[in-house]
Amino acid sequence: MVIEKFEDGPIWTIGYLVYDEESREGMVVDVPMWSSEKIYKRTRELGLSIKHIVATHGHWDHIGEMERLAELTGAQVSALRGDEWMMRDPNGMVIPPPEQIEPVNVDSFLDEKSILQIGKTSFSIIQTPGHSVGSLCLYAEEERLMFTGDTLFAGSIGRTDLPTGSMEEISRSISEKIMSLSDDVRVLPGHGAESTLKKERAENRFVHMIFAEK
Ligand SMILES: [Fe+2]
Repeated sequence: MVIEKFEDGPIWTIGYLVYDEESREGMVVDVPMWSSEKIYKRTRELGLSIKHIVATHGHWDHIGEMERLAELTGAQVSALRGDEWMMRDPNGMVIPPPEQIEPVNVDSFLDEKSILQIGKTSFSIIQTPGHSVGSLCLYAEEERLMFTGDTLFAGSIGRTDLPTGSMEEISRSISEKIMSLSDDVRVLPGHGAESTLKKERAENRFVHMIFAEK
């Protein structure tokens, strides 16, 4: 399993291209503004067949060019139902994007029973409401890695002051779901540096605060 980062858009959002070298199957997790042509070009260079494009949540910086990449690759767009309204009307958000973006059609709605298969690797869905009601983490148990979107960052957690955000929910998602996994899980967030659960358990002050309040 190979992972490439595409950090782009006005607020430096990370889209991830994930692929299996043997089967040449791939998946894209979030598609920032200005990134679709670059990601598509890379998939062509590598000879990949993109099976899934997944939105970790519906905020415009994560789905800015998702529809365009879906058109280019023919891949299925997946998300949680809770954030579909944002993806359908990304320009109508409280904090609107700096330029108009294309609404996204979700082809398949995920839940915690969904499995996304890329070559030999299975990704399961962990529903982690709090940053938004339809926020998810994608977890590959065998590979020990997790895409955390805007739920958990290196040294921080997602904001909860946007529509459908909830401090109570994000606290529960992090303490009961994410932090129930082992130290060796690699954390790949939607902004900033990557981390591990060991490091976040030890150093993330927001995570400490969440556990102190329980
Ligand atoms: Fe977000």
